[in-house]
Amino acid sequence: MDPAPPSTLIVIPTYDEREALPGTLARLRAAVPEVDVLVVDDSSPDGTGEWAEGVAAQDPAVHVLHRAGKEGLGPAYLAGFAWGLERGYAQLGEMDADASHRPEQLPRLLEAMAGGADLAIGSRWVPGGRVHDWPLRRLLLSRGANLYVRALLGLGVADATAGYRLFRAELLARVIAQDVASQGYCFQVDMTRRARALGAVIAEVPIDFDERAEGASKMSSAIVREALVKVTSWGLSRPVQGLRKALR
Ligand code: GDD
Ligand code: MN
Repeated sequence: MDPAPPSTLIVIPTYDEREALPGTLARLRAAVPEVDVLVVDDSSPDGTGEWAEGVAAQDPAVHVLHRAGKEGLGPAYLAGFAWGLERGYAQLGEMDADASHRPEQLPRLLEAMAGGADLAIGSRWVPGGRVHDWPLRRLLLSRGANLYVRALLGLGVADATAGYRLFRAELLARVIAQDVASQGYCFQVDMTRRARALGAVIAEVPIDFDERAEGASKMSSAIVREALVKVTSWGLSRPVQGLRKALR
């Protein structure tokens, strides 16, 4: 008899995704029905949380975590991961609510995990990865951010800001036991560098990233600023850490 597949929870953070979430959730449930879903909603004014509550009442694989207010991507994911780790999921993942990450490609990440990865990243910037319909401004921002991250942090990851991921529970528990304070999208870089420092096996698999069809991006200049400041300070503290290690 085949062993049961590892239990998997996908965490979807939402803020004002009432238009986009229904399609994403329906596609996810249809594509990989064995995977559970946790929507982490920051009290969206547009009623996303209440709508998700209605789905959860009908579908035992769907859960909702309500948070008091908009605190950013990082805190939402941390709350969702803590919820999932408490419930004993073997692997936990990330996906955007707007179907930019095709639910039908989740099996690629699941296969990478079955192949021994501790962290599987759905990557736009490895061969075979593609971005569809992004404005030039966003393409340049993502490429630029990843080049900057590579130059400063040398993580060996082409898409360090990617938001389509699976973590093995043991790795995730060790990472979030550290104080992960990143609020915005640099949370993704922060998680990647901590996984790398812990010696995790990281696999990048190519994905198609689709520009959202509904709703609006939550990207802001504050998010870009936080990322720039944090990545720079992580980069600058690297040689110091190396020197400390060498002197011990
Ligand atoms: N709960 C909560 N709270 N959810 C949030 C918040 C927040 O403060 N901010 C954003 N989100 C949710 C959105 O509702 C969406 O489901 C997901 O996080 C991604 O937000 P988008 O606004 O759609 O991100 P994007 O398309 O601009 O950003 C893409 O690029 C980023 C940088 O590379 C995505 O691929 C991100 O995953 C990626 O980090
Ligand atoms: Mn998006």
